[in-house]
Amino acid sequence: MEIIRVEGGHAIGGTVHVSGAKNSALKLMAATILAPGKTTLQNVPNISDVHVMGKVLKGIGATIEVVDEHTLDIDTTNVDSWEAPYELVAKMRASTAVMGPLLGRFGRAKIAMPGGCNLGARKIDMHILGLEALGVEFDTAHGYINAQAPNGLTGTTVTLEFASVGATENLIMAAVRATGTTIIDNAAREPEIVDLANMLNEMGAKIVGAGTPVVQIEGVEELHPVTHRVIGDRIEAGTFIVAGALMGNEDGVTVTGFSPIHLGMVLKKLELMGIECERVEDGVRVHRAERIKPVDIQTLPFPGFPTDMQAQVMVLSALADGSSVITENIFENRFMFASELVRMGADIRIESHHAMIHGVDGFSGAQVTSPDLRGGAALVVAGLVADAVTEVSAIHHIKRGYERFVEKLQGLGAHVEHATVPDPVED
Ligand code: EPZ
Repeated sequence: MEIIRVEGGHAIGGTVHVSGAKNSALKLMAATILAPGKTTLQNVPNISDVHVMGKVLKGIGATIEVVDEHTLDIDTTNVDSWEAPYELVAKMRASTAVMGPLLGRFGRAKIAMPGGCNLGARKIDMHILGLEALGVEFDTAHGYINAQAPNGLTGTTVTLEFASVGATENLIMAAVRATGTTIIDNAAREPEIVDLANMLNEMGAKIVGAGTPVVQIEGVEELHPVTHRVIGDRIEAGTFIVAGALMGNEDGVTVTGFSPIHLGMVLKKLELMGIECERVEDGVRVHRAERIKPVDIQTLPFPGFPTDMQAQVMVLSALADGSSVITENIFENRFMFASELVRMGADIRIESHHAMIHGVDGFSGAQVTSPDLRGGAALVVAGLVADAVTEVSAIHHIKRGYERFVEKLQGLGAHVEHATVPDPVED
């Protein structure tokens, strides 16, 4: 079994450059379906989720050339199928991001119903309701969602019940090819959505308001291929910033390759916790906090505190001078990480959507299991400050969204390594 082994107690310092944003790159890849021809995506992270999205695109007839490790030429000229197969959707829920583009280009899509995941049900009812308003008809059979727009897509106003990232993206990618104008009210405002809208506009779309709660899309006849650079990954950046706050040496840890404005609430909360992040060219520099002040946190849609940073900030809260509450408002089951941190000595009690955290003096290294992508990375970060050795298993979760996570930490001087240990005895 492959694990990540961390020897705690070693200060880290220097500069780490984050990769392109996973949660933008996956949607930009899907959006190339809308522009027949060869689109070049730059700054694409070399992570397993990108490889899965590549398989989905090749499965419907696209060709992908890996120009270099972070540049993909995606040619969707010959896309002639509209099915995202079960084995790929089951592996990666974000495969559902091809639904909007397929409907926009062909008026058809056949997507395996996404299952749940460690975070919860992960429904797509808001995607479906919004697309139905545009004229899409759905039926589900044998675990697949069949969607088609017999009379084409017609622009209208869609009000989302919740500012869902995925629903906003699928609606935008369908609406760019609808007849007439679509208004999405209560749209999600994440930076990755702005990146998607920017690329679509470069392709010839007419989208205004991305990044605000009201997005207006005027349908166009065709979109053309472009070259587009993926924004830096704000969540990967936040993960390294937390590591620097815990174990940064006197030179500090400098995290580059992303826009600090994409982490505004995170940096604000860290500041309230007594962790100073100074702005530098293309990123921030953070030093180890002498003491961490307890601060309550609520995860909310952007620009609120991102749920994808909840586990990472919980590591800080668990070592704060006092008690704090973290409330998870986005997913119904995103505290599995807390149970693993308790194994390392944290004092955390879960009550429904609230984690009651009482700061402790330190963590003790232990064998722990990644519950999901961000929780896994946060366990490695907790291992940096724990005494003795921490062994993190189920690290395939981490590889989904962090490119060369161990190597980047080693570059900062962390005593972290990949290792192989005997598989546990099946019970
Ligand atoms: C995106 O997921 C991200 N994934 C998630 O990042 C991120 O946590 C999430 O947005 C929130 O920011 C990608 O971009 C690939 P949502 P998404 O639609 O689009 C419920 C990571 O670690 N919901 O905003 O699925 C849903 O179940 C991942 O990189 C419905 O009920 O997020 C969830 O509880 C984890 N019905 C909540 O809304 C719907 O139709 C937020 O979902 C859609 C969503």
